[in-house]
Amino acid sequence: MSKLKTISDLERKCLVGESWYDNEDNITEYQDIFFDELLFDLARPWPLEIKECIFFRGTPDEGEQDGNRWAFRGHGGTLSVEDYPNSLNVLKTWDTILTKYKPKSILETGTNSGIFGFLCYKFLGNDFKLTTIDIEPNSKTCVDEVNKYFDNNLITFYEMDIKRRITNWEVEEEYDFAFIDSGHDEEILTKELNFCDKRKVSIIVCDDWILDEVNDTINVFLENSNYTLIETYNGITDDSIGYLKILKRNG
Ligand SMILES: C[S@@+](CC[C@H](N)C(=O)[O-])C[C@H]1O[C@@H](n2cnc3c(N)ncnc32)[C@H](O)[C@@H]1O
Repeated sequence: MSKLKTISDLERKCLVGESWYDNEDNITEYQDIFFDELLFDLARPWPLEIKECIFFRGTPDEGEQDGNRWAFRGHGGTLSVEDYPNSLNVLKTWDTILTKYKPKSILETGTNSGIFGFLCYKFLGNDFKLTTIDIEPNSKTCVDEVNKYFDNNLITFYEMDIKRRITNWEVEEEYDFAFIDSGHDEEILTKELNFCDKRKVSIIVCDDWILDEVNDTINVFLENSNYTLIETYNGITDDSIGYLKILKRNG
């Protein structure tokens, strides 16, 4: 009897890597998270079974155009049912980071299916507030589910094209911590980092520094701002998730 939630054969065909199913018996750490049905639903190929996004990974019969796309416009979440080893690595990383910095007021760019918000509730209890933004309207459904599940309302979602709007975004909240994880190109990342600088965010975590464009943009920001690189986390393989850089505002 599987400890993981059962999904359709079609969706299971999307799991081409070392999926959580392949490793079910090896899951000893973070069992409460891996076997949690909501978290599983957020990290599965079609989060919460939402397929009505414009892009999803399926068969050509289903209208899929590009085999490399994932649900929610081809970007995956921080954990993926497709990949157990990297999901475990990322869980450990976020457990360490959130436990160490204990942020109270967090900004996340790139909500996707709300997995980071789920982890905030798990690792920070109810002692945080998270503002999270994404261009994808389905992200709101995920965030609503996460808040409902934890019987609280600590996560606020804004639908926004960050590239067009973040520079002039007026938000009252002050943030002590940001997780930058949306567009991953020079233009959007520069705008996100400058926004954090303008708002004097003390700690900025940038995802996916393994991508040259991301790393170069972080380096340019470090040269031209009052931030210092204080920690670097690595994924398991070059093309995996879990490559985080942490920047701290001086003074
Ligand atoms: C890698 S995912 C975020 C994963 C999420 N932070 C997590 O921890 O699971 C990237 C997200 O950025 C969003 N995104 C990409 N370009 C964007 C833009 N211009 N404005 C807002 N969101 C954008 C995508 O829709 C996608 O959901």
